[in-house]
Amino acid sequence: MNEIDALIDETIRALEQMKRAGITHVDVRPETLAIPLTIPPTPASSALVASQPIRPADTETQLQQLAAEARRCTRCAELAQCRTQVVFGTGNPRAELMFIGEAPGADEDAQGEPFVGRAGQLLTKIIQAMGFARHEVYIANVLKCRPPENRTPLPMEVQNCLPYLQRQIELIQPRAMVALGATAMRALLDIQIGITKMRGRWYYYRGIPIMPTYHPAYLLRNPAAKREVWQDMQEVVRQLGREIPRRST
Ligand code: URA
Repeated sequence: MNEIDALIDETIRALEQMKRAGITHVDVRPETLAIPLTIPPTPASSALVASQPIRPADTETQLQQLAAEARRCTRCAELAQCRTQVVFGTGNPRAELMFIGEAPGADEDAQGEPFVGRAGQLLTKIIQAMGFARHEVYIANVLKCRPPENRTPLPMEVQNCLPYLQRQIELIQPRAMVALGATAMRALLDIQIGITKMRGRWYYYRGIPIMPTYHPAYLLRNPAAKREVWQDMQEVVRQLGREIPRRST
């Protein structure tokens, strides 16, 4: 196989991988299209392919490597000992929208995926009401391991685990984020005010707009607050330049 064929095959593989991840379009910069397809003479085809800026596949690979690292993590001795599995994150590695919760609960610890319990089902409905499928966004938590008895994460645990979330954000580069509850906001922005005061206004984390809102678990206990969450989520949809879907309920 010549180098051009290898490059084309690798591109097709990367696009198929993206399609499986739910990606429906690819942004290509005009400068990229303007680059003539010339193959440098020396490196072998695999090295050549690796040097091409095919960012989505690269992002996915790097997220997988980070997840593997998190799975081996023992920075928090108690959490590492108690967990069934590490709950790294789920969704589209090229998501334009990212949701950040606090820490896995029992269901998440058992299944290895964030927000799959009752609060998670509500979050899925919120995401759908915003006009997204769950697999189109990215969902992660501040802590990747379940705290025993679902206790609030300790400051040291947040410190230990935060680099994983920071790297996830750096790799995914979402256009907007939603912080589900105060823990996510405090971890990312070191803001010490309560979620009731914070919610509904944009903050910025390394240039990315972040909207704090109530955690879905709070909504299960206080369904009246769904109204405010929906207001916040409409802001997010507007920020992304999308139409706000009509509510069916
Ligand atoms: N609550 C969270 O904050 N995260 C989960 O994954 C589940 C419940």
